[in-house]
Amino acid sequence: MPFLIAVSSTVKRVLPLIRMMHPVAYTLIEWYHSNKRDLPWRNTRDPYLIWLSEIILQQTRVEQGRPYYERFKEAFPSVASLAKAKEEKVLKLWQGLGYYSRARNLHKAARMVLEKHQGIFPTDHAAIRELPGIGDYTAAAIASFAYDLRYPVVDGNVYRFLSRLFGIDTPIDSTAGKKEFLQVATELIQHAPPHEFNQAIMEFGALTCVPSNPNCDSCVFRSSCIARKKNTIQELPVKAKKQTSRNRYFHYIVLHDGKDVYLKQRTEKDIWMNLWEFPMLEEKKALGPEGMLRKTSLLFKNHSTTMHDKPSKARHLLSHQTLHAVFYEFTLQKKIKLPATWKKVNRKNLQKFPVPKLIEKYLRQLLVGD
Ligand code: ADE
Repeated sequence: MPFLIAVSSTVKRVLPLIRMMHPVAYTLIEWYHSNKRDLPWRNTRDPYLIWLSEIILQQTRVEQGRPYYERFKEAFPSVASLAKAKEEKVLKLWQGLGYYSRARNLHKAARMVLEKHQGIFPTDHAAIRELPGIGDYTAAAIASFAYDLRYPVVDGNVYRFLSRLFGIDTPIDSTAGKKEFLQVATELIQHAPPHEFNQAIMEFGALTCVPSNPNCDSCVFRSSCIARKKNTIQELPVKAKKQTSRNRYFHYIVLHDGKDVYLKQRTEKDIWMNLWEFPMLEEKKALGPEGMLRKTSLLFKNHSTTMHDKPSKARHLLSHQTLHAVFYEFTLQKKIKLPATWKKVNRKNLQKFPVPKLIEKYLRQLLVGD
C-alpha cells in the first residue's frame, strides 16, 4: 500500500521545533490535529486521487463534492482508466457539479499523463502545473499533499485567514494582492511540514475563520489577530472588482415526436460545452409565446407542429450569469426536415446523456408518469 500515510510521526517529532521557529505555523498544525475533518482524500498519498479531489473541490463545497469523489474513484480508479474513458461518460458522472470545463480538462490531462508521462503522474511542480486545468493552487496542493514539496496553497480560505490575522487589506483579486499573499504564505510554510501546513491553513479557513460571524472569542489566534483588534473581520479580505451578473434568455424547443424528443449538443466555447440540451433559441430579451411562434415558424413550415400552452419557466443562477429559461413544448404533426444537429432520442434513453442541471430538472418533470 504505497500511498497510505503513516500518521505523522515526523510531525510529532518536529512540533517543538516549529513552535520555536514559527508560532503561527505551529498553532495552525496543532489546531488541525485536534479539529480536522476525516475526509477520504486525506487518507491517501496517491497523486491521482489527490488531483481528482482537488479538481472536484474547486468552487464546490466538501459535502457536495464528496459523493462525486467516491463515484469517480469507483468508476476510474486510475489515471489510465480515466484517460481511456469516453468524454461523454466523464461528463455524465460530473453532471450536477457545474463548471464542466473542470471535467473536460481532467479528462484531457489524464490523456496527457498517459501519452507524455507514460501513465505516471508527474512528480515535479512545473510538470504538474503544465497539465490542463491545473493552476497555481491545484499544483501546490498536489505537490504538497502527494510529495511533501514546499509550495503553499493560496485559496479563498487562505486569503481570508491571512488577511485577517495580519490585517492585510490589499485586494486579493489584484496582481499586487496575489503576490503579497503568496509571499506571506511562502514565508509561513518554510517553518513547517508542507503537507500538514497546507491542509491546516485551508481547514482553519473553512471551519474557524469563516466568512461571516466567525467565533473570534474562542479562536486560537484571538490575542494576535489584527482584524479582531481593529474590528475589521467583516471587511476582510478586500476584493477590488464587484462581481456582475449577465442576464441570458434561453428559449427551449421541446419537440415531441411520438415517444421521441430531440436533443442537441452544445459545441460552442460557452457554458456547458459538449453537454446536451433541447434545441434552443437565445435572444437578447424574453420572447412571449407569440414571439416564439414567429421565430419557430421558419423552422417548422406548413403547420408541421403545434405549440402547447403553458410553457414552463425556470431561473438558473451561475456564478456570473442568470439564465432565464422557458421550455416551449411542440408536437410534430408531419414529417419534416429538421436540422442535422438535432438528435432524435427515445424518452427512455434521455437519462443517458450528460445534461446541465437546468435540463435535468426539467426532464424529471417531463418524465413523471412515463
Ligand atoms: N478544499 C479544497 N481542497 C480541500 C481539501 N484537500 N480538503 C478540504 N477542503 C478542500
